[in-house]
Amino acid sequence: MKRLVTAASVLTLATAALAGCGSSGSGNDRPTLGFSQVGAESGWRTANTRSIQESAKTAGINLKFADAQQKQENQIKAIRTFIQQHVDVIAFSPVVESGWDTVLKEAKDAKIPVLLTDRAVDSKDTSLYETFLGSDFVTEGHKAGQWVADQYKGSNETVNIAVLEGTTGSAPAIDRKKGFADIIGTDPKFKIVASQDGDFTRAKGKEVMQAYLASKQRIDVLFAHNDDMALGAIQAIEEAGLKPGKDIKILSIDGVHDALQAEVDGKENYVVECNPLLGPQLMDLVGKVKAGQPIEKRIVTEETTFTPEQAKAALPDRKY
Ligand code: AHR
Repeated sequence: MKRLVTAASVLTLATAALAGCGSSGSGNDRPTLGFSQVGAESGWRTANTRSIQESAKTAGINLKFADAQQKQENQIKAIRTFIQQHVDVIAFSPVVESGWDTVLKEAKDAKIPVLLTDRAVDSKDTSLYETFLGSDFVTEGHKAGQWVADQYKGSNETVNIAVLEGTTGSAPAIDRKKGFADIIGTDPKFKIVASQDGDFTRAKGKEVMQAYLASKQRIDVLFAHNDDMALGAIQAIEEAGLKPGKDIKILSIDGVHDALQAEVDGKENYVVECNPLLGPQLMDLVGKVKAGQPIEKRIVTEETTFTPEQAKAALPDRKY
């Protein structure tokens, strides 16, 4: 009997060892995902990170998570580390659009599939990645521009618009700017009087807005490429003795709790949603890619918009 138990134990250990061998170095047959995150620059990003970490746990995926602190070189380093570790799949949200071909080619040569989430790259060779899962940022810019156009329909007065741009070179900054200009650019009464990089952070949004206000240029509308910059700008506007949402109309993109609350408080006028809860879809894609199943090259996230009334209705159930 003793000999039988020992033989069974050896067999179990051998099977476990074999399962570990064919995998990613995680020591078991759970797929390993190496994920390089942009950073922790905004409420949106925090929600996105949580969604990815929680859904990896739920899906039984071994997650190796690296925070790039908004630096492309950190992301490139992280991706190279994932390649050395022979992870099963690499996913990342690129800080900026350009400069990825070399490292993506290294992943391809190592036969590790790459999934883009949230932000795109501008590589001409689309075989370097399997799919891009995330928002249509140009459409978000269109929605923002359309709201401004609707506010001033029928008026011939000049409308001075200040913009807080997202990180220079990032897909959301490029695409939202383009989408907004597509709509606003059709009517000469709309004038962009200031447009600078606020790096998607509250602190930088506040700092840039302070500079706009110090220039004494009249501003009718502030369009921030994300909520955090708008929230920083609201502080600057209040500190300058003005009323955000009234003296200056404010709109931004994301839909985090604090921005919806600012709408309810009358300090912000419109929010275009950008959905950060990409984790479950990403884990589903990891499973499919690992199993060799085909996936779509572009998967667009569904999103809405919030007037103050809609923000009030959405707030009690808002997850982030
Ligand atoms: O890429 C998505 C953008 O990045 C979000 O709008 C912003 O909040 C984040 O930093």
